[in-house]
Amino acid sequence: MQSTKLNAQITAVGMYVPDKVLDNKYFEEIVETNDEWIVSRTGIKERRKMENGATSDMAANAILDLLKTTSVKAEEIDVIIVATVTPDMFFPATACLVQDKIGAKNAWGFDLSAACSGFLFALQTGAALIESGRYKKVIVVGSDKMTAISDYTDRNTCILFGDAASAILLEPTEDLSYGLIDTLLYTDGSGKDALNMKGGGSLNPSSHETVDNKMHYIYQDGKAVFKVAVKGMADISYEVMKKNNLESDDIAYLVPHQANLRIIDATANRMGIEKEKVMINIHKYGNTTAATIPSCLTEYYRAGKLKKGDNLILAAFGAGYTWGAAYVKWSLD
Ligand code: UT7
Repeated sequence: MQSTKLNAQITAVGMYVPDKVLDNKYFEEIVETNDEWIVSRTGIKERRKMENGATSDMAANAILDLLKTTSVKAEEIDVIIVATVTPDMFFPATACLVQDKIGAKNAWGFDLSAACSGFLFALQTGAALIESGRYKKVIVVGSDKMTAISDYTDRNTCILFGDAASAILLEPTEDLSYGLIDTLLYTDGSGKDALNMKGGGSLNPSSHETVDNKMHYIYQDGKAVFKVAVKGMADISYEVMKKNNLESDDIAYLVPHQANLRIIDATANRMGIEKEKVMINIHKYGNTTAATIPSCLTEYYRAGKLKKGDNLILAAFGAGYTWGAAYVKWSLD
């Protein structure tokens, strides 16, 4: 028997950012930098810091925020996918901790590691579970406590990152013109040396030496990553647009990963999309890794800027390298 074809659609959104704000002035006092440099080179004005709690706490708060907006109960959730590079612990998975914290007692779940592309990879994975017909309610949450792995003596990286979490609920629809219509995802591990955290894994188990050598912090060759990120994100966004016969006028919003305003501008230019149609929150939160795209969706939806039927192109580039783009037709009124 032929089973009914299903698409995965986003039926609820939620987010959490910690209260503590680190503005550019804060960094002027701890490293050789200034507000003008940070704003002009990155677009960042502020970012948040989680002072008490971990990635699972932020993820749980984002999901509880989402659940407030829907009739779906925590016990009805089938699967929880946590996209993160800052898990609470190596194991158990952060998804287990989140499941317990929100009381999703009938869910299974797992963590997915794809750095700044984590949300897109998790979206595709969650959508495949829905499309299979086997699962009806999948939570995808991007949550990263980047301040836990930032070196506050390295001006090249510490100014860039912040803490946040944001979640979506995926449910099936038989109307195949809605939801996640298409994705293009790639990995290229030859980029591993440009952006990484070397210490603590099986390659370099934690030791006094790994701590002394600052191997438990983010390392980034910013210039190298910038070059490939501009091309990677612009090319893939254009590709997914063309593959789905979309012109720039057909697109309501580009929803880009928020790493650098200059990378976002280059992507929008390539697609022929004007500034007003690009979701931006980097000025408020910096680069929150897996939380950037869903937090943009949540904020723009809650501000009444998204309407049912809007065509969205989601795009990301990150460590790995990993990159991708997705075409979503928005389902919420
Ligand atoms: O999200 C995952 C993927 N990551 C990205 O997409 C990030 C990609 N890279 C970037 O966004 C940019 O490369 C950065 C924002 C990280 C850096 O901007 P840039 O324009 O590429 O600067 P740069 O690395 O070429 O550095 C230019 C100068 C250097 O000084 P010299 O060597 O020319 O004297 C840096 O030392 O700026 C200096 N610099 C700073 N100056 C003031 C680097 N960081 C700072 C700082 N304040 N915070």
